[in-house]
Amino acid sequence: MAAPFLIPQCAILVLALFVIRSTSSDIFLDWNVSFDFNLKPVSTYQPVITINGMFPGPLINASTNDIVHVNVFNSLDEPLLFTWNGIEQRLNSWQDGVSGTNCPIQPTTNWTYVFEIKDQIGTFSYFPSINFLKAAGGFGPIRVNNLPFISVPFPKPEAEFDLLIGDWYNSSYKDIRSNLNISDDVISPNWMLINGKGPYLMNNLSKSYETLNVTQGN
Ligand SMILES: *[C@@H]1O[C@H](CO)[C@@H](O)[C@H](O)[C@H]1NC(C)=O
Ligand SMILES: *[C@@H]1O[C@H](CO)[C@@H](O)[C@H](O)[C@H]1NC(C)=O
Ligand SMILES: *[C@@H]1O[C@H](CO)[C@@H](O)[C@H](O)[C@H]1NC(C)=O
Ligand SMILES: *[C@@H]1O[C@H](CO)[C@@H](O)[C@H](O)[C@H]1NC(C)=O
Ligand SMILES: *[C@@H]1O[C@H](CO)[C@@H](O)[C@H](O)[C@H]1NC(C)=O
Ligand SMILES: *[C@@H]1O[C@H](CO)[C@@H](O)[C@H](O)[C@H]1NC(C)=O
Ligand SMILES: *[C@@H]1O[C@H](CO)[C@@H](O)[C@H](O)[C@H]1NC(C)=O
Repeated sequence: MAAPFLIPQCAILVLALFVIRSTSSDIFLDWNVSFDFNLKPVSTYQPVITINGMFPGPLINASTNDIVHVNVFNSLDEPLLFTWNGIEQRLNSWQDGVSGTNCPIQPTTNWTYVFEIKDQIGTFSYFPSINFLKAAGGFGPIRVNNLPFISVPFPKPEAEFDLLIGDWYNSSYKDIRSNLNISDDVISPNWMLINGKGPYLMNNLSKSYETLNVTQGN
C-alpha cells in the first residue's frame, strides 16, 4: 500500500524559506598576524606582515549574506586594525576597522571581527588601516560570490584570479613611517609587487614573479 504523496502548501512554503535561508552561512577564520623577515620579495631585509605565514594574506571566499568571523591574533609589536575595504557594514560601522570607529588590537592580544556581507556581490580587499602597516603587507583578497539563484549578466568565468597590485619599499615600513614624521617629502616606492611577488624584468632582485596560466580562447 503506497502512502499518499501529498504535501500541504504550507510545508512547501516552509521548505522554500529553508532553502533560501540555508544559502547564507557563517565563515570562521583564525588569523595569526606576524612578521616574517625572510620573505624578501625584492631581496632587501625588511619586516613583511603575514597572516598565518602567508603574504599576501588568505582569500576570504564568501557569498552574498554570509557572516564572516575573523579572530585576529596580533603577534606584531604594535597595534593592528583591519579594514574590509568595500564591505558596506550596514548598521555595523564599528566593525569597519578604521581609526575612530574601532579600537586597534593590542600586541599579544586577539579580537574577533564579525560582519555580514549583506546583499553584496564582487571583489574587495582587506588591509591594516593604521600607521602605515599596509606598506608592509597584511593585505589580501575578498570575493563575494553571487548566490546560485541570483543571475549575473555574464557566463560563469572559466577561472578566477585575485590580483593585488601595489607599491613596495626597499626598507622597513617603520623607517619610511618615521621619515614621514620628520619630512613632508613622500618617499617614492621602489617597486610594484603583484600578489606579493616582484617585477618580472628584475628577476635578479625578485625571488619570483607572478604567473597566471590561462587557456587560449577561453
Ligand atoms: C603566531 O605566529 C608566531 C610566529 O610564527 C608564533 O610565534 C605564535 O606562537 C603564533 N601565535 C598563535 C596564537 O598562533
Ligand atoms: C569560493 O566559493 C565558491 C562558492 O561557494 C566556490 O564555487 C569556489 O570554488 C570557491 N573558491 C575557492 C578558491 O575556494
Ligand atoms: C581570542 O581567541 C580565543 C581562542 O580562539 C577565543 O576563544 C576568544 O573568543 C578570542 N577573544 C576575542 C575577544 O575575540
Ligand atoms: C632604497 O631606495 C632608495 C631610494 O628610494 C635608495 O636611495 C637606496 O639606496 C635603496 N636601498 C637599497 C638597499 O636598495
Ligand atoms: C610621529 O610623531 C608623533 C607625534 O609627534 C608621535 O606620537 C609618534 O610616535 C611619531 N611616530 C614615529 C614612528 O616616529
Ligand atoms: C638586475 O636587472 C636589472 C634589469 O635587467 C638591471 O638593470 C640591474 O642592474 C640588475 N641588478 C643587479 C644587482 O644585478
Ligand atoms: C602554469 O603551467 C605550467 C606548465 O603547465 C606549470 O609548470 C606552472 O606550474 C603553472 N603555473 C601556475 C601558476 O599554475
